[in-house]
Amino acid sequence: MNFDNFYSNNNFYFSESYSGGLAECLKKYNVSPCATLDLGAGEGRNSFFLASSGFNVISVEPSKVGAEKIFHRSENKKLNIEVYNSEFLSISRELSELGLVVALTSLEHMEHSEIGQTVSEIKRILKPGGYVYILVFTEDDPGFKKDTNNASECSLFIKHYFKKNELKELFSDFNILEYSEYMKRDTTHGPIHYHGKAKLFARKPL
Ligand SMILES: C[S@@+](CC[C@H](N)C(=O)[O-])C[C@H]1O[C@@H](n2cnc3c(N)ncnc32)[C@H](O)[C@@H]1O
Repeated sequence: MNFDNFYSNNNFYFSESYSGGLAECLKKYNVSPCATLDLGAGEGRNSFFLASSGFNVISVEPSKVGAEKIFHRSENKKLNIEVYNSEFLSISRELSELGLVVALTSLEHMEHSEIGQTVSEIKRILKPGGYVYILVFTEDDPGFKKDTNNASECSLFIKHYFKKNELKELFSDFNILEYSEYMKRDTTHGPIHYHGKAKLFARKPL
């Protein structure tokens, strides 16, 4: 699924607000600015937050429109962001020694068969002691249940909803600092809808 149409107007399709959950984890665990990947950066809202907070950000986004938006805004605001207009697995070999990887509702847009390799690459490109923050949609999501009255208009494009504990188990060799599964009302885009979410904050062993 290509997000070009969603991103091709002047506003931010998924709002301009960054992830409050990510900001809370960085603060709670005293994560210092470091080399960071925003995997599936969209229009860059979390990349901008991280770069404004002093992190050196690599934004990877396959939508040309999204990647160009991130590039132009980071140039205008003189933010330290390197943009790759690419799918993650096409460029992941170029990355290493990162201190933080964030992936906010992007892994579910990959085929199930790609997710194992993506997780292996996230683990490889993090240096020991590096952190990962991931948010995904779960099988509690109305989109998975075909409950069209409560599902997001984007749910047709989701390729994999995560099973209970699936995300946590994929990182069982990491130190899991935070993990939760919950339902959330979403008023940021399209008709009001709900999401079943899993959130993970974990650290690669030293
Ligand atoms: C729901 S959007 C979330 C965007 C952003 N993370 C945010 O929170 O605003 C999902 C994003 O994942 C991107 N994506 C899909 N497949 C991808 C892949 N294989 N590698 C990297 N990004 C991907 C899409 O282009 C899209 O911008």
